[in-house]
Formats: sequence, C-alpha cells, structure tokens
Amino acid sequence: MQRRRFLQCVATGASVAGVAAACPPIIKAEPTRSETDRSRVVRFAHLTDIHLYAKRSAAIGLAKALAHVQSLDDPPDFLINGGDAIYDALEVDFDSLKEQWTLWKSVWAAENSLPVRHCLGNHDIWGWDREKSKTTGKEAGWGKAYSLEQLGLENSYYAFEQHGWKIVILDSMTADDETVYRGDLGEEQFNWLKDVLTSTPVETPVVVVSHIPILTVGDVGWSRELAQQPQAHRMLRHQDRGELLQLFRQHPNVILCLSGHTHLTEQIEIAGLSFINSGAVSGLWWKGNNAHTDEGYRIIDLFDDGSFETEYVSYGWEVER
Ligand SMILES: [Fe+2]
Repeated sequence: MQRRRFLQCVATGASVAGVAAACPPIIKAEPTRSETDRSRVVRFAHLTDIHLYAKRSAAIGLAKALAHVQSLDDPPDFLINGGDAIYDALEVDFDSLKEQWTLWKSVWAAENSLPVRHCLGNHDIWGWDREKSKTTGKEAGWGKAYSLEQLGLENSYYAFEQHGWKIVILDSMTADDETVYRGDLGEEQFNWLKDVLTSTPVETPVVVVSHIPILTVGDVGWSRELAQQPQAHRMLRHQDRGELLQLFRQHPNVILCLSGHTHLTEQIEIAGLSFINSGAVSGLWWKGNNAHTDEGYRIIDLFDDGSFETEYVSYGWEVER
C-alpha cells in the first residue's frame, strides 16, 4: 500500500510552488489516516501487451482474460489497454494490419462489456520499419493514424478524471532512424504533460500510464545483448526519464507510473513514486510465461486518501504444446 506524499504538504498548507521544498522527495509522508478510514473510489484493470493475432490461439486467450477480469468477485469499473494491442504493425503490409485490427474489434465486441481506455504501444504503429513493411510512409493511415482510428482515439495522449483521481495516458513512441522507435515523449507532448500537471490541483492524485517503462530494471535479462548493441536501450525505456523524474518531483501528487512493453512484472520505488509494470496478457507472445511473469493483468485500487493497492492476476492461460 502506497501513501501519497502530498498529503503532508497539503496538511501543512504548502503552495504548489513550495511543495518540492516542503516535501523532500526521498522522504515519504507518514500516513495521515488509518487504512480503515479510507474509501476505495476507483478499481481498474491494466491489461497490456495483448499482441492479438490469428495464431497461437491468441483470440481464445484474450477472451479468457476478459472473462476472468469481468467475473472477479469484485470486478473493476473500467479497463486500460496498455498498448501492443495487436501482434505487430511495425513490419507488416496493410492487409495484415487490417486483419489484426478486425480480429481485435470482434473479440472485444463479443467478450467485453466494461468501458475501456486505450494507450498506444510500439507494435500498434504501422510501417515504421519501412524495409520490412515495404511501405513508403505516404500510405493513408501509415504510422499511428490507422491504429488510433481503430481504437477510437483522436490523439495518442490524453488525460481524464475518475472520482477525484487524474489518469494521464502517454504516447511513449518517437520515431528513430537507427532503432525504428525510441521511448521519448518529444517536446510537444512533454510540454502538454507539464501543462496538465501544472493545472491539476495538488489535492488530486495522478496516475501516469505509458507503454514503454519510464524506469525499468527489466532490461537486466538482456544485459549481454545490450552490451553488444547499447542503442537498443532506446527501445526499452524512456530516454527522457531524467526530465520526467524531475517533473514528477515538482508535482508530488503524481503517485504511480504504470507501464508494459517488457512483458515482465516489476515494481520500483524512487523518491516516493512507484513505477510498476503490468507484465503481459500474452506472456511471452502467447508462447508461455515470460521468465517470472505469467500471462496476466494488473488490478489497481485507488483510494480517497491518495493511496493505492495493486495485484498482478494470472488468468490461468495454458499454452497448447
Ligand atoms: Fe509487447
């Protein structure tokens, strides 16, 4: 259970500008209320890295995950798709792209009745690997456009409020000549995020969702490969993580950063802020567990005192051998 750091600041009447000085970021506030005093105001599930396609019984797996989450004794209010919805758009032609999104829409229409918010993943972007996709970049829907349309999104990053909490959905991907993409908000989105946080009252706790982790230790499994190809780090974690951490320190009401991408569950706490990865619905791309991580999703409970609780839930998928 995490406690929001800014409660203490609010209680002492610190102004937004003075919060950073009033609350040294590495010192966590003492609980101001007992756990029994607080009320849960939001429960949502973060389903990430579904990688849906017509092979490996992925559609049956997604249907099973959706049935599992909706039949919990205490089901969530809504779902967040954390990105990499389809198997891959980066390297494919339009027919394959269309087929994957058609399957996505049919499974969700048939198997889900909860509201869903969507976050874009790197594998949702059509054709950025021009060589493999044999695209020119001039095709209608190329890049993020087609997938945004399929997900019903006007923009790849946005924010919304839920019972006193703000949830910010980021677009992690910037095109990169060498590595196809890199984890980076870019100037325009970073300035938008700054504006969102500045205009959010300090009493409103914030959850940030990105596909690529802002901070991760999940790359440890690829240490040898990364030593040979250090540029691949650009794809694994946010390159602007230093600037983001600095920004979040100025806004101690940012409580939790959720991500996917590595298909590994992990939890990092730094400066009183939690960076939590929600594994993958597809596990190792529908081939089984990925290291310590089962095929699963994460449940997140948000409370009225700015605290949260979370649990990774395996939905019991067994790969056909
Ligand atoms: Fe993925």
